[in-house]
Amino acid sequence: MKLYSEENYIEWLDRLAEDDFVVIDDFISPEFYTHIYDFFQQRLDEDDLAKAGIGALGDHTIDKKIRGDYVYWLDEQRDSELKVFYQQLHELVGQIKRLCFLGISDVECHLAYYPTGTFYKKHVDQFKERSNRIISFVLYLNPDWKEGDGGELVIYKENQEIKIEPFKSRLILFKSADVEHEVLTTNADRYSLTGWMLNNPVGLGFLNT
Ligand code: OGA
Ligand code: NI
Repeated sequence: MKLYSEENYIEWLDRLAEDDFVVIDDFISPEFYTHIYDFFQQRLDEDDLAKAGIGALGDHTIDKKIRGDYVYWLDEQRDSELKVFYQQLHELVGQIKRLCFLGISDVECHLAYYPTGTFYKKHVDQFKERSNRIISFVLYLNPDWKEGDGGELVIYKENQEIKIEPFKSRLILFKSADVEHEVLTTNADRYSLTGWMLNNPVGLGFLNT
């Protein structure tokens, strides 16, 4: 497991507070990268991914014009092979609660697979039906992403468009409600682990409406 110092967290979370997003390279160790990538390939081999929808809580509108990815929702107990990732995530959440004074009571995450030629149009990570997503995070898992493979994340900030290349083991954190973003069309298959830090337990979202 990769451990980070207080100084690391302060630096990252200062940037998150200031810029609304932060990019952290090599968040996971090379050994764990291989492990998580193998886990992803097993899920694909076993056909465990499902077409991602738009909306929440039973609204399964599927619209390929908006997003083309396939997802596998993770369960910390069931997917115990990802224990090391969850340990790192819980440590990160603990520091965000402490240093950013945010009330985060749960996380939800999925593996996301974008086949060649797919994208996710500009959006914010909040569903109309609920607004409990506080911080979004994406851990990129592409074994050898290179210029031309596409699938960059574009962050829209004021008048800027900031392109984030989806290099393996790179983590991005951003404020779910504030940051408009987009996944550009992929020219190669694209792999990531995407998740959200929530201010209400999963499944109680309807209480927010
Ligand atoms: C999402 C999303 C960004 C990315 O799943 O909501 O915007 O880079 N993902 O995969
Ligand atoms: Ni998003």
